[in-house]
Amino acid sequence: MNPVALRSEFPLLRRYENGKRLCYVDSAATSQKPQVVLDAVRRYYVEDNANVHRGVYDLAARATQDYEDARAEVAGLVHAEPEEIVFTRGTTESLNLLALSYGGQALGPGTNVVTSPAEHHSNLLPWQQVALRRGAELRFVELDEAGQVTPDAVAAVVDGGTRVVALAHVSNVMGTVTDVGAIAAIAHRAGAILAVDGAQSVPHMPMDVRQLGIDFLAFSGHKMCGPTGIGALYGRRELLAGMSPVYYGGEMIEEVTLTSATFKEAPWRFEGGTPNIAGAVGMGAAARFLQEVGLSEIHRHETELANAAADGLRRIEGVTVYGPEGHRESGVVTFNIDGVHAHDVATALDQHGVCVRAGHHCCQPLMRRLGAASTARASFYLYNDAEDVRQLLAAVQATKEFFRRVAG
Ligand SMILES: Cc1ncc(COP(=O)(O)O)c(C=O)c1O
Repeated sequence: MNPVALRSEFPLLRRYENGKRLCYVDSAATSQKPQVVLDAVRRYYVEDNANVHRGVYDLAARATQDYEDARAEVAGLVHAEPEEIVFTRGTTESLNLLALSYGGQALGPGTNVVTSPAEHHSNLLPWQQVALRRGAELRFVELDEAGQVTPDAVAAVVDGGTRVVALAHVSNVMGTVTDVGAIAAIAHRAGAILAVDGAQSVPHMPMDVRQLGIDFLAFSGHKMCGPTGIGALYGRRELLAGMSPVYYGGEMIEEVTLTSATFKEAPWRFEGGTPNIAGAVGMGAAARFLQEVGLSEIHRHETELANAAADGLRRIEGVTVYGPEGHRESGVVTFNIDGVHAHDVATALDQHGVCVRAGHHCCQPLMRRLGAASTARASFYLYNDAEDVRQLLAAVQATKEFFRRVAG
């Protein structure tokens, strides 16, 4: 993998910000888009645009083919079958759909959902709310010292009443990687299913839902070099087949009378209304692009950069780095400059051309546990290189010195 050559495939990264080389290290928030994805979306609109699954003319058939080809590409990325991929607006919608449909059917008094205090709000609130409505219990796994969810901690809270274990594969704050394969086995032994929030893993590492035993997997197009407003929910075929739709309307029906309706098979019964066809085409192109670059290579490359950044940040006196002490297994590095609000850090880093995320990262319960109202987060991806690490470290050093001087 050649990150310099790769970088040139992303038009936005050729830009310079504040007179500086653009150091974009906020890919956990959203990724930049390569030319092949931009071209695929444009080509769809210029050559094939029509509504899907309805028209009987050639143009409409091509649009439907593009949309279904994209489903197959996305399925291939996670080693699923195309019929096991529901297109959604993103991870948030995927998890809501899952909680409302599967959770709505499986949960009730005497049952429980097991999750962790480290979840993104998108994987907490849907389960919290459906559990409240259905009279089910929401149980939390105890995190270890490093903020990690371990299989042992999951086994300690799962019991015969557990219907769903819902966990992130990679934490968007700590960058920790959860052993979802071992946890799937624990969930299945208890008769529960494992739902994985893959927002921070699918774009960054090889993913095989069959091998890992994952029952549901949610992910977003925009975090994997694809467009915004598109994502996917993978569901094991037998499970999707037993689930009721959540959105009712056009596209998803077989037959409708004034008082009743029958619905298409999965995944189409979950895709009521005109879908984001161009978004799906872009997500399909992104899935192909990532596989061509190689997910193992991407993972190796970005973890190398994240480890170099974490080591460098730890060497700057007055900087606190969160997450694993030892080797990092993801591209996420969260930190604070002591005595400086993370928003001020991010604004100051911007003056050096460095884009990082700052805030609570949609993980308020975890932030309370860390004892930090907010943190700054650098997250690396395939288009970053050693120069990005150098630029980040120099900017953090300069920012720290600036605030020391201002504080006098
Ligand atoms: C771990 C995790 N889960 C869920 C989400 C929500 O993703 P989206 O906003 O694309 O729905 C994010 C986004 O930052 C995330 O990092």
